[in-house]
Amino acid sequence: MNKQQELDKIAKNIKDQNICADLAKTATQLVMGDGNPDADIVFIGEAPGKNEDIEGKPFVGAAGKFLNEMLETIGLKREDVYITNIVKYRPPENRDPSDEEKEVFLPFLDEQLTVIQPKLVVTLGRHSMNAFLPELKISQVHGQPKRFRGQVYLPLYHPAAALYNGGMRQTLLDDFAKIPKILNKIQEKK
Ligand code: URA
Repeated sequence: MNKQQELDKIAKNIKDQNICADLAKTATQLVMGDGNPDADIVFIGEAPGKNEDIEGKPFVGAAGKFLNEMLETIGLKREDVYITNIVKYRPPENRDPSDEEKEVFLPFLDEQLTVIQPKLVVTLGRHSMNAFLPELKISQVHGQPKRFRGQVYLPLYHPAAALYNGGMRQTLLDDFAKIPKILNKIQEKK
């Protein structure tokens, strides 16, 4: 089985096991992930929004457009990385996902990472960071790589937070600019 087939199997398991039946009922479809299953970098957001729910792909709305722009600033395209969310169904009215919803999807996210084996996991926003690094405060650690159980994480603010806040936009761009160096350092160590 190649990596894409393994990822497809994880999606099938979520559907077959009727994971998060309540969200599945109100959502249009499962939004699993997008990009290159052989990527060095995986980006993890929170949960699909309206556009993602319709298209079946993560980060295709306004926040996704900014994410694409930031990728371009470091010479990457969406096809070079893998993008997913903690929660795979859209919460109604774009409310924050509950702790229970996040917990129930975490084993499937772990399986995705086991298949992809990225060098760097970039968490987008507080919810995503806290799924892996529960003790940390994003205001204190954004843009700083953290190694935990053999995996390097880079906590970043959520791109949606930058849409109406110019200062946050520049902070995100500055943090993003660190990614190539961080990746090189990880490769040197391996
Ligand atoms: N925000 C997220 O966290 N994920 C998406 O897929 C889109 C917006």
